[in-house]
Amino acid sequence: MLLRPPRPSDVEVVYEWDRDPELAAWNGRPPLSISLEAARRDYLARWREPGVRTFIIEAGGEPVGMATLYDFRNGGCDLGIKIGPKTERGKGYASEAVRLLVEYAFNELGLRVVRGSTLAHNHRMQRVFEKCGFREVGDGALISRFDNRRYTELFYERRREGT
Ligand SMILES: CC(C)(COP(=O)(O)OP(=O)(O)OC[C@H]1O[C@@H](n2cnc3c(N)ncnc32)[C@H](O)[C@@H]1OP(=O)(O)O)[C@@H](O)C(=O)NCCC(=O)NCCS
Repeated sequence: MLLRPPRPSDVEVVYEWDRDPELAAWNGRPPLSISLEAARRDYLARWREPGVRTFIIEAGGEPVGMATLYDFRNGGCDLGIKIGPKTERGKGYASEAVRLLVEYAFNELGLRVVRGSTLAHNHRMQRVFEKCGFREVGDGALISRFDNRRYTELFYERRREGT
């Protein structure tokens, strides 16, 4: 498994993931409905934005997921992650990616805290946070834009040692 910056050739696979209703539901968003060409413009702009750091998770030479560090504020940032193909989940890729990104955030970016959140019924993501040393710090109600239903969201954070 490795993390690398996104490339223009990743657009199609990222678009496919963003159109997947199951992945959208886990993110509390509707699946993407814009055209591939409109999405391409959005992705290429976002991947260059200084306030967002996007990484492609690659395994066996193929992109299998995406992770993002964003919302840089108060000495910290938020982390989001997904493994695109169903067949690639449960292989430890997200746990390894989160570990690497936390190290990167602390050691390269000089941050003190990495924050994350997930739906209360996303036990897999909670396990990833726990395995990577995050602790649960609160919860909140969320209206999902996927199905307009109300869900509980759990907030996590991982603090740099000694801070
Ligand atoms: C959540 C997600 C990012 C995790 O990535 P992953 O590569 O599958 O995760 P890993 O293989 O590193 O670890 C998953 C852990 O959850 C555990 N797990 C799997 N299903 C589980 C379940 N139903 N309940 C509890 N734990 C579960 C696995 O056993 C593993 O823990 P272990 O290493 O102690 O055995 C990935 O499955 C995914 O993209 N899912 C769909 C989108 C999503 O939920 N994104 C997160 C939105 S916040």
